[in-house]
Amino acid sequence: VTVDWDTSDYGTDGHRHFMHKEIAEQPDAVRRVLKGRLDERFQTVRLGGLEMDAREMREFRRVKILGCGSAYYAGQAGAQFIEELARIPADAEPASEFRYRNPVIEKDTLYVAVSQSGETYDTLVAVQELKRKGGRVIGLVNAVGSSIARECDGGVYLHAGPEVAVASTKALTNMMVGFALLGLHLGRIRDVSPADGRRLLQALTALPEQIETILADEEQLAAVAKTLAQAPSLFFVGRTRGFPVAREGAQKFKEISYRHAEAYQTSELKHGPLALVGPDLPTVAIVPDDELLDRNLGALQEITARSGPLVVVTHDGVDLGVTSAHVVAVPKSEPELDPLLLTIPLQLLAYHAALLLGHDVDKPRNLAKSVTVE
Ligand code: G6P
Repeated sequence: VTVDWDTSDYGTDGHRHFMHKEIAEQPDAVRRVLKGRLDERFQTVRLGGLEMDAREMREFRRVKILGCGSAYYAGQAGAQFIEELARIPADAEPASEFRYRNPVIEKDTLYVAVSQSGETYDTLVAVQELKRKGGRVIGLVNAVGSSIARECDGGVYLHAGPEVAVASTKALTNMMVGFALLGLHLGRIRDVSPADGRRLLQALTALPEQIETILADEEQLAAVAKTLAQAPSLFFVGRTRGFPVAREGAQKFKEISYRHAEAYQTSELKHGPLALVGPDLPTVAIVPDDELLDRNLGALQEITARSGPLVVVTHDGVDLGVTSAHVVAVPKSEPELDPLLLTIPLQLLAYHAALLLGHDVDKPRNLAKSVTVE
């Protein structure tokens, strides 16, 4: 059974494309995923849909996240949130790989399936396989009542609303917020202090307005996109918290602009990819204002020393020490949540590059919004 949104009254609302509309809807989408879940009194989050009490939640010793495409990249960011906030080892794997490799299923692992449509066949089969082997699996799903949501033991609905453009934007953002909520929830029943809980609740509450600020800079992002659109190949680099951002940025760029875009850990540049850096290969570098800033700045020097064009997505107030880069600055959040806001400008970079190249932004060639078959 496939549960579809009733999209008959869902138009582009004056936007040129669904993708643009869905990018613009993100502040409201984030307000919806947060609504009713922030518990100011106990500085934690309430996730009633998990259907697990604190005692059960405390027993998990590992978290394994499964999803495909952008959902997998959101899962990578999610694994970092969970590991940082709750100090539980966490990782993400494409559901499409997991289901084929006879994985070891552990009873003290919390499995999390993440999906916008709730109908991605690879993710659904992974969930079914997990359940057959006695694994405990919850869903982070957007489409209410979808197949994956129904198969899971409980979950967190993402409330992003219908998403039509193949390239996921608001659903992806809400996936990341969903993981932050889950990480904080798991963290507060372990070692996260009430003060840290409060700090993160405040950061979550600030997200919608901060996203609005980023979206207000669209003209600047369109101008930067123009400098990237003609390059046959691009690098997206980031490290630790910035790496899932780079991967998602490269994914979005290649999906709709059809340009070759490859993501690397910034730390790995010197172990190979730097050989390709030169005037014809732009790099989009994710440089958060965090404890790795100096190391990231060193990498920027390596790139400019080889005349590689640079776009740097960073935080307000960071002094990059390079003059030739296009700088895109986003508002500062709490460090653990940095991937969320750093991802937003990359959506508009991909959108405007695809627009300039004259592509069908909402329906890129060879791709489907939801892959529901083998
Ligand atoms: C398809 C789409 C991707 C999407 C992936 C997972 O491959 O083209 O944009 O990220 O499916 O979809 P889901 O609905 O499970 O999030």
